[in-house]
Amino acid sequence: MTTTHHPETAQLSIDSLSKRFEMHVLSNTTVVGLEDVSATIRDGEFLAVVGESGSGKSSLLKCLYRSYEPTAGAVRYATDDGDVVDLASCSERTILALREGEIGYVSQFLEEIPRVSALDIVSRPLREAGVSDDEARDRARELLAALELPPELWKAYPATFSGGERQRVNLAKALATEPSLLLLDEPTSALDPETRAAAVDLLRSSLADGTTMVGVFHNPDVVATLADRVLVLDDGSVVDTVDVDAYLEGVR
Ligand SMILES: Nc1ncnc2c1ncn2[C@@H]1O[C@H](COP(=O)(O)OP(=O)(O)O)[C@@H](O)[C@H]1O
Ligand SMILES: [Mg+2]
Repeated sequence: MTTTHHPETAQLSIDSLSKRFEMHVLSNTTVVGLEDVSATIRDGEFLAVVGESGSGKSSLLKCLYRSYEPTAGAVRYATDDGDVVDLASCSERTILALREGEIGYVSQFLEEIPRVSALDIVSRPLREAGVSDDEARDRARELLAALELPPELWKAYPATFSGGERQRVNLAKALATEPSLLLLDEPTSALDPETRAAAVDLLRSSLADGTTMVGVFHNPDVVATLADRVLVLDDGSVVDTVDVDAYLEGVR
Protein backbone atom coordinates (compact mmCIF):
# COMPACT_ATOMS: atom_id res chain seq x y z
CA MET A 1 0.00 0.00 0.00
CA THR A 2 1.26 3.45 -0.80
CA THR A 3 1.28 5.90 2.02
CA THR A 4 1.14 9.65 2.07
CA HIS A 5 1.95 10.02 5.74
CA HIS A 6 4.35 12.77 6.63
CA PRO A 7 5.16 11.85 10.20
CA GLU A 8 7.38 14.85 10.66
CA THR A 9 4.56 17.36 10.21
CA ALA A 10 1.74 17.93 12.67
CA GLN A 11 -1.61 18.63 11.06
CA LEU A 12 -3.18 19.31 14.41
CA SER A 13 -1.65 20.04 17.77
CA ILE A 14 -4.02 20.06 20.71
CA ASP A 15 -2.61 21.76 23.77
CA SER A 16 -4.27 21.60 27.21
CA LEU A 17 -7.76 21.84 25.79
CA SER A 18 -10.58 22.19 28.32
CA LYS A 19 -14.31 22.59 27.95
CA ARG A 20 -16.53 23.30 30.92
CA PHE A 21 -20.27 23.82 30.79
CA GLU A 22 -21.79 26.32 33.18
CA MET A 23 -25.21 24.96 34.03
CA HIS A 24 -27.12 28.02 35.16
CA VAL A 25 -30.36 26.09 35.56
CA LEU A 26 -28.63 23.73 37.98
CA SER A 27 -27.74 26.55 40.37
CA ASN A 28 -24.53 27.26 38.46
CA THR A 29 -23.00 23.81 38.59
CA THR A 30 -20.04 23.28 36.29
CA VAL A 31 -19.99 20.14 34.14
CA VAL A 32 -16.62 19.07 32.80
CA GLY A 33 -16.63 18.08 29.14
CA LEU A 34 -12.85 18.04 28.60
CA GLU A 35 -10.01 18.61 31.03
CA ASP A 36 -6.49 19.47 29.92
CA VAL A 37 -6.48 17.33 26.76
CA SER A 38 -3.30 17.32 24.68
CA ALA A 39 -2.54 15.36 21.52
CA THR A 40 -0.69 15.69 18.25
CA ILE A 41 -2.16 14.38 15.02
CA ARG A 42 0.26 13.97 12.16
CA ASP A 43 -0.51 14.85 8.57
CA GLY A 44 -2.43 11.96 6.98
CA GLU A 45 -2.87 10.11 10.25
CA PHE A 46 -6.06 8.61 11.66
CA LEU A 47 -6.47 9.16 15.39
CA ALA A 48 -9.31 7.15 16.94
CA VAL A 49 -10.92 8.58 20.08
CA VAL A 50 -12.38 6.02 22.45
CA GLY A 51 -13.91 6.09 25.92
CA GLU A 52 -17.14 5.35 27.70
CA SER A 53 -20.30 7.31 27.12
CA GLY A 54 -19.88 10.77 28.63
CA SER A 55 -16.07 10.64 28.54
CA GLY A 56 -15.83 13.68 26.26
CA LYS A 57 -15.41 12.22 22.76
CA SER A 58 -18.08 14.38 21.14
CA SER A 59 -16.99 17.44 23.11
CA LEU A 60 -13.47 17.01 21.75
CA LEU A 61 -14.64 16.81 18.14
CA LYS A 62 -17.01 19.74 18.64
CA CYS A 63 -14.19 21.84 20.12
CA LEU A 64 -11.99 20.98 17.12
CA TYR A 65 -14.78 22.02 14.75
CA ARG A 66 -15.57 24.94 17.08
CA SER A 67 -19.23 24.09 17.41
CA TYR A 68 -18.18 24.26 21.06
CA GLU A 69 -16.02 27.16 22.14
CA PRO A 70 -13.20 25.74 24.28
CA THR A 71 -12.89 27.15 27.78
CA ALA A 72 -9.08 26.96 27.71
CA GLY A 73 -6.25 25.64 25.61
CA ALA A 74 -5.14 25.83 21.99
CA VAL A 75 -5.66 23.79 18.82
CA ARG A 76 -2.98 24.59 16.30
CA TYR A 77 -4.05 23.55 12.82
CA ALA A 78 -1.77 23.66 9.76
CA THR A 79 -3.84 25.07 6.90
CA ASP A 80 -3.60 24.18 3.22
CA ASP A 81 -1.94 27.58 2.72
CA GLY A 82 0.84 26.67 5.13
CA ASP A 83 -0.34 28.93 7.94
CA VAL A 84 -0.97 27.80 11.49
CA VAL A 85 -4.34 28.78 12.94
CA ASP A 86 -5.51 28.32 16.53
CA LEU A 87 -8.95 26.80 16.05
CA ALA A 88 -9.75 27.48 19.71
CA SER A 89 -9.41 31.25 19.36
CA CYS A 90 -9.53 32.23 15.67
CA SER A 91 -12.29 34.50 14.40
CA GLU A 92 -15.70 33.18 13.44
CA ARG A 93 -14.93 34.20 9.89
CA THR A 94 -11.73 32.15 9.80
CA ILE A 95 -13.44 29.06 11.15
CA LEU A 96 -16.29 29.39 8.65
CA ALA A 97 -13.80 29.66 5.79
CA LEU A 98 -11.90 26.60 7.02
CA ARG A 99 -15.13 24.61 7.33
CA GLU A 100 -16.00 25.55 3.79
CA GLY A 101 -12.62 24.77 2.35
CA GLU A 102 -10.73 22.16 4.34
CA ILE A 103 -12.21 20.94 7.62
CA GLY A 104 -15.12 18.49 7.51
CA TYR A 105 -17.29 17.13 10.32
CA VAL A 106 -19.68 14.22 10.28
CA SER A 107 -21.96 13.59 13.21
CA GLN A 108 -24.20 10.67 13.86
CA PHE A 109 -27.18 12.63 12.56
CA LEU A 110 -28.00 14.47 9.39
CA GLU A 111 -29.29 17.96 9.95
CA GLU A 112 -32.69 18.45 8.37
CA ILE A 113 -32.53 19.99 4.93
CA PRO A 114 -36.09 20.23 3.72
CA ARG A 115 -36.89 19.65 0.05
CA VAL A 116 -33.34 19.18 -1.17
CA SER A 117 -32.47 15.90 -2.86
CA ALA A 118 -29.67 13.66 -1.61
CA LEU A 119 -27.76 14.36 -4.82
CA ASP A 120 -28.04 18.14 -4.30
CA ILE A 121 -27.01 17.92 -0.64
CA VAL A 122 -23.85 16.03 -1.57
CA SER A 123 -22.98 18.11 -4.63
CA ARG A 124 -23.74 21.51 -3.12
CA PRO A 125 -20.43 22.00 -1.27
CA LEU A 126 -18.61 21.27 -4.52
CA ARG A 127 -20.72 23.70 -6.51
CA GLU A 128 -20.13 26.31 -3.82
CA ALA A 129 -16.41 25.67 -4.23
CA GLY A 130 -16.73 26.52 -7.93
CA VAL A 131 -16.99 23.05 -9.46
CA SER A 132 -19.35 22.84 -12.44
CA ASP A 133 -22.83 21.39 -11.94
CA ASP A 134 -22.13 18.32 -14.07
CA GLU A 135 -18.85 17.53 -12.43
CA ALA A 136 -20.27 18.08 -8.93
CA ARG A 137 -23.21 15.74 -9.61
CA ASP A 138 -20.89 13.10 -11.12
CA ARG A 139 -18.75 13.17 -8.01
CA ALA A 140 -21.85 12.99 -5.79
CA ARG A 141 -23.17 9.96 -7.74
CA GLU A 142 -19.78 8.29 -7.43
CA LEU A 143 -19.78 8.74 -3.64
CA LEU A 144 -23.38 7.68 -3.14
CA ALA A 145 -22.77 4.60 -5.29
CA ALA A 146 -19.62 3.75 -3.33
CA LEU A 147 -21.69 4.00 -0.13
CA GLU A 148 -24.33 1.73 -1.69
CA LEU A 149 -27.18 4.20 -1.42
CA PRO A 150 -29.80 2.83 -3.86
CA PRO A 151 -29.95 5.06 -6.99
CA GLU A 152 -33.72 5.44 -6.69
CA LEU A 153 -33.06 7.49 -3.54
CA TRP A 154 -30.59 9.92 -5.08
CA LYS A 155 -33.33 12.34 -6.16
CA ALA A 156 -35.41 11.83 -3.02
CA TYR A 157 -35.44 14.02 0.10
CA PRO A 158 -33.37 12.64 3.00
CA ALA A 159 -36.04 13.92 5.41
CA THR A 160 -37.82 10.64 4.65
CA PHE A 161 -34.70 8.44 4.83
CA SER A 162 -33.79 5.84 7.43
CA GLY A 163 -30.95 6.61 9.86
CA GLY A 164 -28.51 4.51 7.87
CA GLU A 165 -29.45 6.17 4.58
CA ARG A 166 -29.04 9.60 6.14
CA GLN A 167 -25.64 8.71 7.52
CA ARG A 168 -24.48 7.77 4.05
CA VAL A 169 -25.64 11.10 2.65
CA ASN A 170 -23.89 12.80 5.55
CA LEU A 171 -20.62 11.03 4.90
CA ALA A 172 -20.78 11.53 1.12
CA LYS A 173 -21.35 15.25 1.67
CA ALA A 174 -18.29 15.54 3.92
CA LEU A 175 -16.06 13.55 1.56
CA ALA A 176 -17.18 15.37 -1.59
CA THR A 177 -14.79 18.29 -1.13
CA GLU A 178 -11.85 16.09 -0.08
CA PRO A 179 -11.18 17.90 3.19
CA SER A 180 -7.67 18.05 4.65
CA LEU A 181 -9.03 17.32 8.12
CA LEU A 182 -12.09 15.19 8.70
CA LEU A 183 -13.75 14.88 12.12
CA LEU A 184 -15.98 11.83 12.45
CA ASP A 185 -18.37 11.29 15.37
CA GLU A 186 -19.82 7.78 15.09
CA PRO A 187 -20.60 8.29 11.40
CA THR A 188 -21.42 4.62 10.77
CA SER A 189 -23.43 3.81 13.91
CA ALA A 190 -26.70 3.20 12.03
CA LEU A 191 -25.19 1.16 9.18
CA ASP A 192 -25.49 -2.59 8.78
CA PRO A 193 -22.21 -4.54 8.53
CA GLU A 194 -22.16 -4.54 4.73
CA THR A 195 -22.71 -0.80 4.23
CA ARG A 196 -20.39 -0.11 7.14
CA ALA A 197 -17.68 -1.99 5.27
CA ALA A 198 -18.38 0.13 2.17
CA ALA A 199 -18.10 3.30 4.27
CA VAL A 200 -14.85 2.13 5.85
CA ASP A 201 -13.42 1.37 2.38
CA LEU A 202 -14.26 4.86 1.25
CA LEU A 203 -12.66 6.38 4.35
CA ARG A 204 -9.56 4.28 3.74
CA SER A 205 -9.19 5.57 0.22
CA SER A 206 -9.65 9.11 1.50
CA LEU A 207 -6.88 8.45 4.05
CA ALA A 208 -4.68 7.13 1.27
CA ASP A 209 -5.31 10.42 -0.56
CA GLY A 210 -3.87 12.23 2.45
CA THR A 211 -6.86 13.31 4.53
CA THR A 212 -6.11 13.54 8.26
CA MET A 213 -8.87 12.12 10.44
CA VAL A 214 -9.97 12.16 14.05
CA GLY A 215 -12.77 9.67 14.56
CA VAL A 216 -15.04 8.08 17.13
CA PHE A 217 -16.09 4.52 16.26
CA HIS A 218 -17.52 1.96 18.66
CA ASN A 219 -16.67 -1.05 16.56
CA PRO A 220 -13.11 -2.28 17.34
CA ASP A 221 -12.87 -3.79 13.83
CA VAL A 222 -13.37 -0.34 12.34
CA VAL A 223 -10.74 1.10 14.69
CA ALA A 224 -8.39 -1.73 13.68
CA THR A 225 -8.92 -1.03 9.98
CA LEU A 226 -8.61 2.74 10.05
CA ALA A 227 -6.66 3.96 13.04
CA ASP A 228 -2.95 4.59 13.44
CA ARG A 229 -3.21 5.63 17.07
CA VAL A 230 -5.86 5.66 19.75
CA LEU A 231 -6.61 8.40 22.28
CA VAL A 232 -8.36 6.99 25.35
CA LEU A 233 -10.57 9.42 27.27
CA ASP A 234 -12.11 9.01 30.70
CA ASP A 235 -14.11 11.72 32.46
CA GLY A 236 -12.87 14.31 29.98
CA SER A 237 -9.18 13.53 30.52
CA VAL A 238 -6.65 11.63 28.42
CA VAL A 239 -5.87 8.26 30.00
CA ASP A 240 -3.53 7.11 27.28
CA THR A 241 -2.43 7.64 23.69
CA VAL A 242 -1.33 4.35 22.18
CA ASP A 243 -0.58 2.72 18.84
CA VAL A 244 -3.59 0.89 17.50
CA ASP A 245 -1.97 -2.54 17.92
CA ALA A 246 -1.40 -1.97 21.62
CA TYR A 247 -4.96 -0.75 22.01
CA LEU A 248 -6.42 -3.77 20.23
CA GLU A 249 -4.41 -6.17 22.36
CA GLY A 250 -6.15 -4.65 25.34
CA VAL A 251 -9.72 -4.92 24.03
CA ARG A 252 -9.54 -8.31 22.26
N1 LIG B 1 -23.91 21.06 25.50
C1 LIG B 1 -23.65 20.51 26.69
N2 LIG B 1 -24.12 21.06 27.84
C2 LIG B 1 -23.84 20.52 29.03
N3 LIG B 1 -23.09 19.43 29.22
C3 LIG B 1 -22.59 18.84 28.11
C4 LIG B 1 -22.83 19.34 26.81
N4 LIG B 1 -22.18 18.54 25.91
C5 LIG B 1 -21.58 17.59 26.64
N5 LIG B 1 -21.83 17.76 27.96
C6 LIG B 1 -21.31 16.93 29.06
O1 LIG B 1 -19.93 16.71 28.84
C7 LIG B 1 -19.57 15.38 29.19
C8 LIG B 1 -18.99 14.70 27.95
O2 LIG B 1 -20.02 14.51 26.99
P1 LIG B 1 -19.73 14.03 25.51
O3 LIG B 1 -18.61 14.83 24.97
O4 LIG B 1 -21.01 14.06 24.77
O5 LIG B 1 -19.25 12.52 25.76
P2 LIG B 1 -19.19 11.27 24.77
O6 LIG B 1 -19.31 11.77 23.36
O7 LIG B 1 -17.90 10.60 25.06
O8 LIG B 1 -20.37 10.40 25.15
C9 LIG B 1 -20.84 14.73 29.69
O9 LIG B 1 -20.87 14.83 31.08
C10 LIG B 1 -21.94 15.57 29.07
O10 LIG B 1 -23.09 15.53 29.83
MG1 LIG C 1 -20.61 11.27 21.81
